[in-house]
Amino acid sequence: MPSERFHYVGVDDHEIDLFEGQYEVPAGMSYNSWIILDEKVCVLDTVDRSFADAYLGKVKAVLGDRTPDYLVVSHVEPDHASSLQAFLDVYPGVTLVGNAKTFQMLENYFMLKDTARLVVKEGETLSLGGHTLRFVMAPMVHWPEVMLSYEETEKVLFSADAFGQFGALDEMPEWDDDEARRYYLNIVGKYGTQVQAVLKKAAGLEIAEILPLHGPSLRGEAIAHAVEKYGVWASYAPESEGVFIAYASLHGNTAAAAEKLADILDQKGCPDVVLADLARVDPAEALAFCFRYGKIVLCASTYNAGIMPFMEDFLHHLKAKNWQKRTVGLMENGSWAPMAAKGMREALAGLKDITVLEPAVTIKGAPKTTDIPQLEALADALLA
Ligand code: FEO
Repeated sequence: MPSERFHYVGVDDHEIDLFEGQYEVPAGMSYNSWIILDEKVCVLDTVDRSFADAYLGKVKAVLGDRTPDYLVVSHVEPDHASSLQAFLDVYPGVTLVGNAKTFQMLENYFMLKDTARLVVKEGETLSLGGHTLRFVMAPMVHWPEVMLSYEETEKVLFSADAFGQFGALDEMPEWDDDEARRYYLNIVGKYGTQVQAVLKKAAGLEIAEILPLHGPSLRGEAIAHAVEKYGVWASYAPESEGVFIAYASLHGNTAAAAEKLADILDQKGCPDVVLADLARVDPAEALAFCFRYGKIVLCASTYNAGIMPFMEDFLHHLKAKNWQKRTVGLMENGSWAPMAAKGMREALAGLKDITVLEPAVTIKGAPKTTDIPQLEALADALLA
């Protein structure tokens, strides 16, 4: 925390099973909120409403008899703003601070007609006394109303969802590449262009500390590391050398062929090979592997003259996240009429800058020694 004027009043959520109703969070989730105590009292964001009572207790413990002058709403998504009504019930005199879109969107959730509001635009400032907040718009990182707040005196950037990660603070107090990547690519991955625009704005700021809405605060080297990772992720560039093999297998034969391909790649000196069974892995993790590696192999059984559903669903997720700029090998399996490669090829044709390695490997039933040459050929193409 920058100085004794800044107070953390966020909460750790270990009760949640799926964040946003879809993402596994085995280490929980944090919803971060801060208070700046100055001549004016400013609260930045609230928390998920499941924790409204605990949150308001923390706020009260910091404020004592003072009341907040401002509540900055960086992001309307309910994991941050759904305690707003409970907050207003206790502190009805507070002025809400947001941009024009913030208030349009808040009215989808709350009746705010009697609540004071301060509408801010890009670059405008709000003086709290010894501290001044400057507002930086960050549309689509992750919703259209998102804005960051830069505190000029202590050079603290309140970064909203940007630079966040999965994991409660009591379990994951430090930045973790894997959980930050899985969070970023699944939550904001589609909006790489908008993230790059915000990174450019942030490059013009001297930043001593980043305080995101989820996960740990970042200082010094951790800031440089996180900014570098975001530069890679937002540009859809591969992050690591190696091959990710994702398979959807009906009776284990496609899985066996995928494992054989992994062995061959390993023997040929591939620096890293990761295998995942799409029926059993966390889909958000499989998606993060697709962004991490530059070369991917998709292996699927044929099912009802199409693609096995776990692979079909995964291809849909890749498209939804704007996945691009990769080299992809295909492997299909089918006992009488293999069709999965055709379907996967068609799905990939809708994505940007995807190079499909031809020909696809075709297995009929169990993988056999006669299939080794085509597996070797795919491995060679991947390593070329
Ligand atoms: Fe953490 Fe987009 O909400």
